[in-house]
Amino acid sequence: MTMDELKRKAAACALEHVRDGMKLGLGTGSTAKHFVELLGERVRGGLTVVGVPTSEVTRADAQRCGIPLTTLDEIDRLDLTVDGADEIDPALNLIKGGGGALLREKIVAAASDRMIVIADESKWVDTLGRFPLPIEVIPFGLSATRRALEHAFAEVGASGPIKLRNGKDGHAFVTDGGHWIVDADLGRIPDAPRLAGLLSVIPGVVDHGLFIGMASLAMLAGPNGIRTVERP
Ligand code: A5P
Repeated sequence: MTMDELKRKAAACALEHVRDGMKLGLGTGSTAKHFVELLGERVRGGLTVVGVPTSEVTRADAQRCGIPLTTLDEIDRLDLTVDGADEIDPALNLIKGGGGALLREKIVAAASDRMIVIADESKWVDTLGRFPLPIEVIPFGLSATRRALEHAFAEVGASGPIKLRNGKDGHAFVTDGGHWIVDADLGRIPDAPRLAGLLSVIPGVVDHGLFIGMASLAMLAGPNGIRTVERP
């Protein structure tokens, strides 16, 4: 099976948790895109759901698939969010933001009763950090923010290069919220929950890609089928 087929399999499994009438958070990325497409098929077959997209890309995909959309200003809570991840550890803590949508993804996940993370097995790690940690920052005072980030990393015994992410045009990648992203190549994050807290209080940081205690279930597709892991 190709990687893309594995991602679609994980997405199909998550779809089994969707019930008529649900309000859904719709994730971003190549795996979440499969979920949106499969959900669209069900909607065209009569399923009634409403979705909140986590990026402009997902909004466009969902509209193309005929999924009715709403916003977090129009509804109170979401029943379920289904999203991908860049890394997943055994506590179901995640690194997200490889696609640049981490801020809206986190807002939507936090407004959801449950979050199912869907991925191929390659995203499963013992310790987060092999994937460079995306951090959404304000352009103003970036050097000061970088120094504060280095301090926070040192506090948890991590270090590594921090690179400003560039877009396809060679200029700084701009998020849906109008911010920039730096990617911190830490190799290993010894205490992700503690680092998440330290990053959250840095003034130039809008948000970061550590999703701590947010995912309730992971569906990991591998050559031998789907492995389901619940948050311990
Ligand atoms: C988007 O910002 C990310 O958080 C994605 O959910 C994550 O990068 C996983 O993407 P893939 O499903 O494309 O690997």
